[in-house]
Order: sequence, then structure tokens, then C-alpha cells
Amino acid sequence: MAFFEKYKERTETELLVEVRMAKELGIYPYFKELNSEQGPIVAMNGREVIMLGSNNYLGFTTDKRIKNAAKKAIDEFGVGSTGSRLLNGTMELHVELEERLANFFGTEEAVIFSTGMQANLGALSCFLGKDDWVISDEQNHASIIDGIRLGGLPSKHKKIYKHNDMADLERCLKEIPEGEHALIVTDGVFSMHGDIAHVDVITELSEKYGAGVYVDDAHAVGVLGPNGRGTAHHFGVEKKVDIIMGTFSKSFASIGGYVAGSSSICQWIKHRARSLIFSASAPPASVASVIAILDIIEKDDSIRQKLWANTKRLRDGYLAAGFDIGKSETPIIPIIVGADMPTFYLFKNLFEETPRSVYTNPVRAPAVPDGGQLLRTSCQASFDFDTLDEAVEIITKHGKALEIIK
Ligand SMILES: Cc1ncc(COP(=O)(O)O)c(C=O)c1O
Repeated sequence: MAFFEKYKERTETELLVEVRMAKELGIYPYFKELNSEQGPIVAMNGREVIMLGSNNYLGFTTDKRIKNAAKKAIDEFGVGSTGSRLLNGTMELHVELEERLANFFGTEEAVIFSTGMQANLGALSCFLGKDDWVISDEQNHASIIDGIRLGGLPSKHKKIYKHNDMADLERCLKEIPEGEHALIVTDGVFSMHGDIAHVDVITELSEKYGAGVYVDDAHAVGVLGPNGRGTAHHFGVEKKVDIIMGTFSKSFASIGGYVAGSSSICQWIKHRARSLIFSASAPPASVASVIAILDIIEKDDSIRQKLWANTKRLRDGYLAAGFDIGKSETPIIPIIVGADMPTFYLFKNLFEETPRSVYTNPVRAPAVPDGGQLLRTSCQASFDFDTLDEAVEIITKHGKALEIIK
């Protein structure tokens, strides 16, 4: 009890004061409830809302074929695994999915985790010991940062290069002592700004300096490369990337994470990654959904093409209205606002519009640098052009009212 007294006070003074103030102003944007499935249009607060805040890039969350696969898996394998992959938690579905992923990415093996966060925590920490070096993009996802921390390498062995800046990456590589090797870690598509890592140049540099390459393709798989095989395939350098890591929580419309690479990498992870060994495996329905999605996207690229047509429509709409969308090259399209209050007010006004409103994700420091506050919007294959045009019209109206655009 006594221990948490301090936190009772801190929760009040450091947290709830701000939360209450934001709520009073009507600009508290977090933990909004959905009263429907996670489709292109959702129900929230008794209203129809155009969902521009989802990572459901291929729109599979509501697809009947995937729902049926999930239901069938529940009937055959039950609702949960109740154990770690290492012990009683490996079902034939997990093994089947690992084989399918290895085949999809063209690697020797793959390992699946229960979330993408766990995949990064487990894989990075089991490879980055006290004698190793890591070089990481400054805008990499939090799960990469934490995975590196867990590895326990000395702080002077961690080098952060300027965002997507290949000259700065090379500078870091030159600083690695002779005879020692570093692992370069990057997001494939950066989650806040939607720009693509220069994985072609990264692999060139890795060859030159004998470094390893680890790409977190959470936002690229399903989106980039032939049939959505991700960033390495997009650049045709898949043989030069050691580890492709990803998640099932975005294009795969499910939950879980994975690492694909050589047999020795995957076997090391299977027997050393603590977030794999000491955590229960993903439930059957979630695993079966991913297999069903692979069945579709391996043969049919039309959904991904639709995603790109929609992305172009949305992006053109923003640009025509005069919004700053940064360096976005993918379905993640930020609307850069540049300060906290106008970002939150834009969020609020879009969310309260009638008869239909728009949901976006407000992002502030430290997720983006101060001055780079933004509304993160993301496109889905399941939108039609009329809905996207309607969203752009609403965002433009409020962008003008708040003088974010002229
Ligand atoms: C780049 C990146 N890596 C990893 C993750 C973690 O994935 P998951 O949601 O499966 O834990 C995310 C999710 O936000 C992400 O954006």
C-alpha cells in the first residue's frame, strides 16, 4: 500500500490534472470507444465515423473469408493456446504459418511471436550482447528502442543515425572498431511519417562494412513490394537483409509478430528470446486469419493495387488543399500541424463533424519532434473515392477554420 501512495499523488498531480483539463476543453483524444467492427466506416459516440486512423491497410478486418477461417480455427483448435511456444503452446497452425511466412519472404525459416512488440523485444535483445554494436535510425519504433535496451550492450556501443540519412549511417559504420561488427536496424516504412527507409543503400553499406541488417517491416508488408512482400523485396535486396521483422496487427488484420531469416537466426531466437519463451503463443483464430490472408494476397495483388489507388486519391486531395504531408510515400499520410493545441483542436473538430465525422490519430512529442506535431492518417483498400473525397472536404474545412491552411 505504502509504495503506491507516491503514485496516487503523482497520478493526480502529473497526469490527471492535464487529462481533466483536456476533457473539459473537449480535446482529450485518447481511448475513444468503437461500437462496431474496425472497417473503413466505424460507429463511435452514436455517429458514423470515417476511420482514417487504422492500420487496416488491406481492409481484411471485416472480410468474410477471414472471419470464416478464424471461426473454423476456433472450432478445431479452441480459443486459446494456454502456453509458450517452447512447451505446450505450439499448435500445427503456428508451424504452418511459420512455413508460409518463410516461403512468402524467401527465407529459410520464420518464428512467430504473440505481438510485434514482443518480436522486437525478443529478437533484438537476444542478439545484442555486451560485445556487440548497434546502429539505429533516430525515428525507429519504440519496440526497437526497447529491444536494444534489453540487450544490455554498453551505451557507447549504441549509435543513432539521423533519420534516413545514409551519410550519417556511414559515419557511424566508420566508427565501429576494426574487427568488430554492427547490426543496422531500421523501420522499413516509418510509422509516423510514412516515408520509406533507403534499404537499397543500407544493404550496400552493410556489405561494405560487414554489418548485419534488421528491417522492421510492420507498415510495409502487404503494402510494398511484389504481392506485399515488404521493403527488401521492393528494392530487390531481400537476399542482403538478414532479418525481416513484422506484425500481424496491420495489413494482416490480426495480432502477433514474426521474424524471418536464416535457420541459425531463427533457431537462436526460438531458444533464446525471452518474450517468446516466457509468454503464451498467439490464439488459433488469430493465426488462422493470417494464413487465410496469405492465401489471398499470394495469388491476387488487386487489393494492394486498390490501396495504392486510394492512397493517391487521399494524398492528392491533401496536397490540393495545401496541407503539409511531409515526406510521405505510402498509405501513412501525416497532416503536419506543428503545435499541440491546433493538433488537438483539429482532431476534435474533425471528430465532432456531423452527419459523418473523421477519426485521425493526434501525435505529439516525443513520438515526433516538438514542432512536428501531426495528425497521422492512413489509407485502406476498402475505402471508395467518394468517402475519401468527403474526408478531405471535412479536413479542409476545419484546416482552414483553424488557419492550418489558407
Ligand atoms: C514499426 C512498428 N514496429 C512494431 C510494432 C509493434 O507491433 P504490434 O502492434 O504487433 O505489437 C508497431 C506497432 O505499432 C510498429 O508500428
